[in-house]
Formats: sequence, C-alpha cells, structure tokens
Amino acid sequence: MDRFYSLVLKDKELRQFFDDVDAKGQRGSMTSFLALALEMPRGFKDLQLRKAHSPVFRRGLRDEHVVTLIKYFMEAVREKELDEDVRDQIAMNLECAREEITREE
Ligand code: HEM
Repeated sequence: MDRFYSLVLKDKELRQFFDDVDAKGQRGSMTSFLALALEMPRGFKDLQLRKAHSPVFRRGLRDEHVVTLIKYFMEAVREKELDEDVRDQIAMNLECAREEITREE
C-alpha cells in the first residue's frame, strides 16, 4: 500500500488532486480504495464513486488520471506475489470503478 501511495504522490499530475486533502483523509480514501480493489463490495453503486469524485473533477480530474492511478496500483500489485486470478479480479474491479467514476450524468 505504501508503494502505491508513493507512486501516486510522486506523479506531478496526480499529486495536485491530493494537495488539499489532509493526510488522514488521504489514508482514509486510500484504504477504501484498497478495499474496493480487493473485493468489489455488494452495493457498489451505493458508494457513489462518481459523486465522491465530482469535486475532484471540477478541479480537472480526467479519465486519463484514473487510468494512471489504476496503472500504479497494478504496478504495486505485481510486486506482491498474488495469484494471477486475484490480480485479474483486482484489475476488473478497478475497471468497473473507472467506468463508474467517469460515467456521464
Ligand atoms: C479506480 C479509480 C478510483 C477509485 C476506486 C477511487 C476510490 C475512492 C474512494 C472509495 C474514495 C472515498 C469516497 C468517500 O469517502 O465517500 C475516494 C475519494 C477520493 N478520491 Fe478516489 N478513487 C479512484 C480514482 C481517483 C483519482 C484518479 C483521483 C485523483 C487523482 C482520486 C482522488 C480522490 C480524492 C481527492 C478523494 C477525496 C478524499 C477526501 O476528500 O477525503 N481518486 N476515492
């Protein structure tokens, strides 16, 4: 998790979005992110991912940022020795999340 976190914060494009989120808030959303990646929660839609990110969108978040974030996460995941099907599941979950986040109204 720390590995993922540091990849994100090293990225100039992504870092800006976290600038005004306090460290505790960042940890919180990173933890939810992880939970979401690992096991897609049942009422996934209820999480209102799109709504949660709309302030971030107003500040210029674009689909490519989400793609980059997912790339970093998968990079960190690859460094762990996980079964391939677990990795595939994570990638699939994040892809669904991306669609949800970037979905038009
Ligand atoms: C598949 C991609 C993503 C997933 C699954 C995800 C997941 C989440 C979750 C679960 C939360 C917490 C929502 C809540 O508290 O109700 C959150 C908040 C947040 N996310 Fe994401 N996120 C994704 C992409 C991104 C990207 C690309 C950025 C910016 C580069 C971003 C920036 C934020 C910020 C700034 C918050 C709010 C933190 C706060 O104010 O406490 N997210 N995200």
